[in-house]
Amino acid sequence: MRRSAVQRPQHAAPLAAPLAAPLAALAAAALIASCDSGAQGGAQGGAQGGAQGGAQGGAWASYAPTAPTGDVLALLTTAPFRYPDRACRPLSELSAFGPLPASAQVEVSAEGVEQVCVWQSHVGNAPEGIPYNAIGSCDLPFTQGPSWFVPPARVHESDAALLDDPAYRAEHDWTQAQIRSSGCACCHASSIGSGNVSGWDVDAPGVWTDNLSAARLLLLSGVIEGDELFSEYAPEENHGFSRAGAMMASTDPARLTRFFLAEFERRGGGMEDYALADGRIEALFGRFELASEECRAGVEGLVDGRLRWEGEAARQVYVQEAESALPGFPPRLDRPAGTTWALYVDADGAPVSSGALALGDVPAGARQVVPEEGAPRLESGRRYRLFVTGDFMRPPYASCLFTAP
Ligand code: HEC
Repeated sequence: MRRSAVQRPQHAAPLAAPLAAPLAALAAAALIASCDSGAQGGAQGGAQGGAQGGAQGGAWASYAPTAPTGDVLALLTTAPFRYPDRACRPLSELSAFGPLPASAQVEVSAEGVEQVCVWQSHVGNAPEGIPYNAIGSCDLPFTQGPSWFVPPARVHESDAALLDDPAYRAEHDWTQAQIRSSGCACCHASSIGSGNVSGWDVDAPGVWTDNLSAARLLLLSGVIEGDELFSEYAPEENHGFSRAGAMMASTDPARLTRFFLAEFERRGGGMEDYALADGRIEALFGRFELASEECRAGVEGLVDGRLRWEGEAARQVYVQEAESALPGFPPRLDRPAGTTWALYVDADGAPVSSGALALGDVPAGARQVVPEEGAPRLESGRRYRLFVTGDFMRPPYASCLFTAP
């Protein structure tokens, strides 16, 4: 299903084009949020209705998502990334959603109560048919994605009669239900009532995909190489939802991919949309392909026994074997093989400054995640990388190589 990279124009993507800037998306989310959240999308603006007339046009005319406020706004824009954990709810409290699908995973709590659990993550899912926030809290995903408000708006006008076609309707409704059960729904599904919908809305009026550009249809189809770097859970711990091939986790990723590609065709999307979509992924993940350079003597790396970087106080500090992969997005890519030491500052802890740490130091409010036990040890003469970030998903302050003394 995936197109090979060579089939698509690689350098046509205008990274600095007006649309690309807000779409430095997840990687730069929190960073950009702190300064740009107001600028990105008129906080007072509602969605603009498309054509008037007819049930659908009417629905768009009254569709006006509002900007997040209060605690939700604070989580989005000022809270540090909250590391995914699990939340559970007794099975008996989920009866309103009907019988559980076969793919749901039911557990028994320590007290002997049957319960259903979700990973509170942008890539976590509730069982098919159950909205994510019926079990998990959006508080965590709010800290794990782009924070700014862009009211979803109609960018295409489909023939409303499409929804009368039962075959189309089935796929349309199925994709809505799939996406509502994901952590993405916290920001992309107005029906779940999280207090934030931004960028696009799976619950937009009429044909819901009318609020997606052709490039976004492609992104969501999963055919753009590189989106696996958003990370994922295994289907065995995610109610059967898998990201194999699709951008959103699904109980049937191939079906989801087919839907979005069919929508792309119906829209008459072309190569320029591939270029745009590629550009988005490149903006997010291109840096993961860059080779690390030598640490600048005296200011970066291990300097007189202290870890130093140029940049602000950090929330994650890593020392890795030089040939290992760069730390990526939680939950699965943030501790690559070959990581010698990883220190994570807790969401309520104070970030650590350059020069404050020797290897293995664990200040109050932080925890050592690699190694799980014992002290990290460097091999004299071996090459290592220092990797330091202001928070998960943001571009690093340091990603440089040094030789252990
Ligand atoms: C914390 C809120 C939040 C979460 C969680 C979130 N998103 Fe988004 N997403 C946004 C915002 C905000 C935008 C940017 C809208 C804009 O600038 O137009 C966006 C944009 C996108 C885009 C368009 C990107 C582009 O470059 O055009 C896609 C595709 C997307 N999100 C998919 C997802 C998926 C899949 C998930 C779950 C794995 C997810 N989002 C989770 C807030 C979120």
